[in-house]
Amino acid sequence: MNCLTHLTNQLVSNTAPHIPKHIGIIMDGNGRWAKKRFLPRYVGHQKGRSAVRKVIEAAMNRGVHALTLFAFSTENWRRPADEVSKLMAMFLNALQKEVDTLHQHNVRLRVIGDKSGFSPDIQSYIERAETLTQNNTALHLTIAANYGGRADIVSAVQAWQLAHPEHTLDQLTPDSLQPFLSLADLPEPDLLIRTGGEERISNFMIWQMAYAEFYFTPTLWPDFNEVEFDKALASFAKRQRRFGQTGEQVAQC
Ligand code: IPE
Ligand code: IPE
Ligand code: MG
Repeated sequence: MNCLTHLTNQLVSNTAPHIPKHIGIIMDGNGRWAKKRFLPRYVGHQKGRSAVRKVIEAAMNRGVHALTLFAFSTENWRRPADEVSKLMAMFLNALQKEVDTLHQHNVRLRVIGDKSGFSPDIQSYIERAETLTQNNTALHLTIAANYGGRADIVSAVQAWQLAHPEHTLDQLTPDSLQPFLSLADLPEPDLLIRTGGEERISNFMIWQMAYAEFYFTPTLWPDFNEVEFDKALASFAKRQRRFGQTGEQVAQC
């Protein structure tokens, strides 16, 4: 990225340069939070819901444009059936209880991932939420549920091929694939936060995170809050993003 592109991006997005435009969060550590208290794992998931509310509010207060939260991976179906069904019940309950408040706060809500894996009830509440909030502008909130980065890339390639039946695969380029990936209408995540102490990406937006800054914290998700969020932003503000250039080139901008 040259100086001019960088400047134009800042002007278009109207976001302060030290504030990430798009933050992705791997909300991890619910189970361990509960285990530490000799409670069943689902209590950690329940407690995690209030951390979600706090982070949405903090993101809006800090002027973040888009927030993408990893709630359930394509691999999480491998968990015990009881935990999966509790997570599904909580997802449905959140869609029933939280969406109107989000709408009142001008939040646009979307879900990425394979929605066909969910019950008809969940699917119809997702559709209702997406339709209700589609014109909201204060925050682009995305929940990644039954989401996997590898599946995202594969379905993008399939969609690319459907859209260009006259093309052969040797004409596929990163730029031509980009519009077919999840959240192609948003800037790519600038910052990835992972709570819970693990330092891995666990199949979350692996394409879109190519140049994201990573922030790992041992704080378990249910304990995450505005103060923790600000620590991540402070760490981000200190990074020099080079996009392949040298530090000296970037410093000249
Ligand atoms: C993240 O917390 C929530 C989901 C994956 C649904 P975990 O449930 O993975 O919590 P830990 O990692 O076991 O502590
Ligand atoms: C990643 O957490 C998925 C979500 C937070 C939804 P996991 O707890 O499933 O990740 P791994 O299995 O430890 O890599
Ligand atoms: Mg985990």
